[in-house]
Amino acid sequence: MTDWSRLVRPSLVGVDPYDPGESMAELKARHGLDEVWKLNWNEELAGPLEGVLEEVERELPNSWMYPEQAYADFRADVAAWTGTVPARIVPAHGIQALVTIVATAFLRPGDTVVIPSPTYGLYAQVCAAHGAEVARVPVRSDLGLDLEAMLAATERTSARLVWVVDPNNPTGRIVTAAEWRAFLDALPQGSVAVVDEAYREYVDPGLRVDREADVAAGRPVLLLRTFSKIFGLAGLRLGYAIAGEQLASFLDVVQEPFNVNRAALAAGCASLRRCELVEERRTRAAAARALLAARLGEAGLESTPSQANFLLVRLGMDDVEAAGSLARRGLLIRPGSEFGLPGTARITVGPLDVMERVAAELAAARAPR
Ligand SMILES: Cc1ncc(COP(=O)(O)O)c(C=O)c1O
Repeated sequence: MTDWSRLVRPSLVGVDPYDPGESMAELKARHGLDEVWKLNWNEELAGPLEGVLEEVERELPNSWMYPEQAYADFRADVAAWTGTVPARIVPAHGIQALVTIVATAFLRPGDTVVIPSPTYGLYAQVCAAHGAEVARVPVRSDLGLDLEAMLAATERTSARLVWVVDPNNPTGRIVTAAEWRAFLDALPQGSVAVVDEAYREYVDPGLRVDREADVAAGRPVLLLRTFSKIFGLAGLRLGYAIAGEQLASFLDVVQEPFNVNRAALAAGCASLRRCELVEERRTRAAAARALLAARLGEAGLESTPSQANFLLVRLGMDDVEAAGSLARRGLLIRPGSEFGLPGTARITVGPLDVMERVAAELAAARAPR
């Protein structure tokens, strides 16, 4: 038998693959359910914007061609939307792909990366697989990113990369413009801030930090964005980085050429042609989030202030038990113990009547039946 652990890159040994949790099919089978509300993966339950799928269908006859022109069109459309230039846009099949691209571009074995805790699990896994030491920095007591402590860890370890997640998953907390400015101004030379802005479009426009300006100004920052969230295209896999022109070229060196398919690119461009619909989605998500927080509050359950399409709630009971109880009623939520916050759950926002149901079921799960 070949012992592959002796042949693969040594840093892969002992690193667990990313675990997104139980799939919908597994949960349906386990609980014998026909219909479920998927409130456990932070997808946009409203799906793609109206008219987008028809445009994707019109693109399918071109499937035999590599997407050269489609790539250029997508870069131009994203640049126009984000107020930057096409040379700073690096398309990829989701932020997940970009995490690997960034790690490959920057990390040498023995480098340190600073990652907040808790946060999205992929950064630590990918960086460790590339041979990096992971320095985790706990969030503050209000669950916001502790940028001062992250800065101190960066200085102490001479970290190559610092992962900033705004809003953070699973808390939904944002970084303020003042916090960001102080962090960036004090970032030691030789360190790079990678900012995952997957949920940016859900944030109240008045609270968003304009980091495109930092990229344009040549600061050591790159941004990761996605069409998986507010644009409702998680299944097509589409995202992009915004990076300085020189860095964008380096990222293009390490990523596969044409790693995004034509259907996804068409969906992205079609979505941006309807970008006026995004604001309505944002306000709808904010209203659903507010309703859920209010109903949970009435039941004595406290949630963390969130600017994303999900809410982290303190359950007052075992989270795995609570998630199991709701799953049996066709409501999938994410137990917090999966990301180191036992006694909490993360709930994706959706239709108002579903929010009412989730809050009522959680309140009932706490009380003996
Ligand atoms: C913070 C964060 N970044 C990235 C992703 C994945 O993005 P993508 O679908 O573009 O790979 C997620 C998905 O839940 C996430 O929560």
